[in-house]
Amino acid sequence: MKLGLYPLSALLRCKSGRCYRLWLRISDRLSGVQSVSKSWMKSTVYIETLGCQMNVADSERAATSLRRAGYDLTLSPESADVVLVNTCSVRERAEQKVYKRIRQLRSLSTKKPVIGVMGCVAQLEGQAILAKAPDVDMIIGTRATDRISILIERLKDGEEAVIDLEERAEGESWDVSPVERHSPFVAFVPIIEGCNKFCSFCIVPYSRGREKSRTATEIVDEVKQLRELGYKEVHLIGQNVNSYRPRSEEGLEKSRGATPFCRLLRALAETGMERIKFTTSFPRDFHPDIVAAIEEYSNLCDWVHLPVQSGSDRILKSMRRGHLVEDYFRRVDAIKNSKRRLSLTSDIIVGFPGETEEDFQATMKLIERCQYDGLFIFKYSSRPGTPASKLVDDVPESEKKKRFLELESRQFDLQSSIYQGYIGRAVSVLVEGRSARSEEDLTGHSTCHKVVNFKGDPTQQGEILNVRITEAKSYSLYGQQVNRDGTRGVPMRTPAGDA
Ligand code: SAH
Ligand code: F3S
Repeated sequence: MKLGLYPLSALLRCKSGRCYRLWLRISDRLSGVQSVSKSWMKSTVYIETLGCQMNVADSERAATSLRRAGYDLTLSPESADVVLVNTCSVRERAEQKVYKRIRQLRSLSTKKPVIGVMGCVAQLEGQAILAKAPDVDMIIGTRATDRISILIERLKDGEEAVIDLEERAEGESWDVSPVERHSPFVAFVPIIEGCNKFCSFCIVPYSRGREKSRTATEIVDEVKQLRELGYKEVHLIGQNVNSYRPRSEEGLEKSRGATPFCRLLRALAETGMERIKFTTSFPRDFHPDIVAAIEEYSNLCDWVHLPVQSGSDRILKSMRRGHLVEDYFRRVDAIKNSKRRLSLTSDIIVGFPGETEEDFQATMKLIERCQYDGLFIFKYSSRPGTPASKLVDDVPESEKKKRFLELESRQFDLQSSIYQGYIGRAVSVLVEGRSARSEEDLTGHSTCHKVVNFKGDPTQQGEILNVRITEAKSYSLYGQQVNRDGTRGVPMRTPAGDA
């Protein structure tokens, strides 16, 4: 979480009336010191985010509402008055990590901070967290991000531990201050929360609740505002963005399209935001009109993430995915036959209960056909509370590992030749920062969501540049800046600049 300051006007607002009172009383409780000077200091909150983009977006939202309530955000857990851990529960090991991390954070601290657990583990485990981690004071469900300051106030009023697993309240709307965004150039914009699909292995419908779409007007306004603030790229996020179904037409009236999501894409493309990406798409709801929209608007990026999970119909049925392999291929064909070359990525689970070698080989065959630009591979792990947890987890760990490695190795080869195919081509790259590997290099993502490194000047961060690819590595591309006409780029002020 970035540090930053609210505009003075907002600070002044917080120093008056209720916010100020709250802030003073919390400061007293948290520090345990009653001196006047101490009570004038702001309490600080440290937020640590684990898991997916949705969690990052939730932390940004929580930080915005906490700052509005008079808190400062800090990057150091050691000195924070309130420590929040925003958790992930997609895999069980992730959950165990949370308890370990809470113990670590507690021991790091020089004071006795208020400790809160946010996110999916909080929502699923609720009260049970207090038994496993008695140090925890607050349990903040996935829809309680805007009410954290109220929970702190309740602690102040003497409650020992507070829990909020309720739905979002009327009037709570998506609101993220630019200072809380994870990047000054790329912004996550949630368009739909929750999931109604209930794939048999997945905990998300239980941790995030039912699908709830934001109105198009709200999303379009946010994207327009982000553009004015200088953001170059937005990621529309949701468990299944293409299941987007707002309660009203509001904001979509002028946009055509086969589904509300296609209409939203066109409405957002019209805002002029330079790059628009979206993830994740659910295969059953993937309408070919999404491809048509991408063909119409160059600012709709050439990348689709379409998780398949398995190449075996038997396993897909047992996973309750609502699509078979042929249905999936029809979507893939629409993507591959596009006039633009669209990058395609996916998620696959190996070792699902009952997965035979034959089923697994069907998955191996599927990746040949799909030619993915990238693949996230997961070994199945049973999640208590999901329908699949009632099935016998009968693929031994050693076999899951073997299948994982076999799939990974083949994907590596397929992906390598796709990456090699970029050599000589120019791609458009948003410069997001310096490369971690080399002082002289900048790094960013292409519109097709590949990591691209190249020599450049740090002042170019935030710019969109053309880069001609000269080298392909396993998971990234390397290139050289070029002008739009294909000639080499402008002189650069780096010691090894290739001017
Ligand atoms: N639609 C969501 C999926 C969330 S979970 C999205 O936004 O991407 C991300 C991925 O985790 C899933 O696609 C699946 O491949 C993997 N996954 C979920 N539950 C799992 C489990 N119990 N075991 C192994 N992998 C799992
Ligand atoms: Fe999970 Fe399936 Fe929804 S993977 S997030 S239940 S689409």
